[in-house]
Amino acid sequence: MPDQKLIAGNWKMNGLTGDCLVLADGLLKAESSGLFDKVQLLVCPPFTSLTIVADRIGNHKILMGGQDCHAAEKGAHTGCISAEMLKDAGSTHVILGHSERRQAGESSADVTEKVSAALRAGLMPVVCVGEQEEDRDSARHIEVVTQHIETSLPDDIRPDQLILAYEPVWAIGTGKTASTDDILEMHKAIRDSLARRFGNKADFIPVLYGGSVKPANAAEIMSLDNVDGVLVGGASLNADDFIKIAEAGIVKE
Ligand code: PGA
Repeated sequence: MPDQKLIAGNWKMNGLTGDCLVLADGLLKAESSGLFDKVQLLVCPPFTSLTIVADRIGNHKILMGGQDCHAAEKGAHTGCISAEMLKDAGSTHVILGHSERRQAGESSADVTEKVSAALRAGLMPVVCVGEQEEDRDSARHIEVVTQHIETSLPDDIRPDQLILAYEPVWAIGTGKTASTDDILEMHKAIRDSLARRFGNKADFIPVLYGGSVKPANAAEIMSLDNVDGVLVGGASLNADDFIKIAEAGIVKE
């Protein structure tokens, strides 16, 4: 198990530069409490605010990531951003294979190429996996998520080059959170799948839960076995809520 919980905020397509700076400043208020030494914080602003947010948080132990990248290093890909560009803008991480991108047509093969691109650029990929509601209704949820893991990672990835985020699609932005039993079952299945591939080094791969995480449920979720942190969408847009979620992730000595 990683020592500290990772609390990641996916700001999605929200915030002009001014809004993102206000949000970053709101998070920095928690620095004096020592929070940044007790959990790892990661924020993923929209592309247009990466540089300005990096400038603001750069010296303060908050990590920053992009929300997607193109597989190629450069070239004729109008409208796209490479992993190298994310790195150049101050990112250390990148979210890949988010269900909102998979729903827009991204396949696991595409995600694999993007993970390779992230590693090439020296970024840590946060690879998202998760089932649709109908998969769960037909009891195929574990099979679908296991398949996502098996097909979304390049062959040569090492266990220390990976963060995984389990996000049941039906729980994203809906206010519906998976039950603790659902999360326990899935995170165990994910850990087992990673162990088949990486052996006992799989224990150190952070596995996050995402989907309607909020201050009221964060502590319970992060107390569960095999949950190493959370990936937060909506509630990460409010600095006070995100700080409360992060505080819920402090591991008691
Ligand atoms: P949510 O989003 O917290 O708003 O459900 C999570 C995500 O999409 O990463």
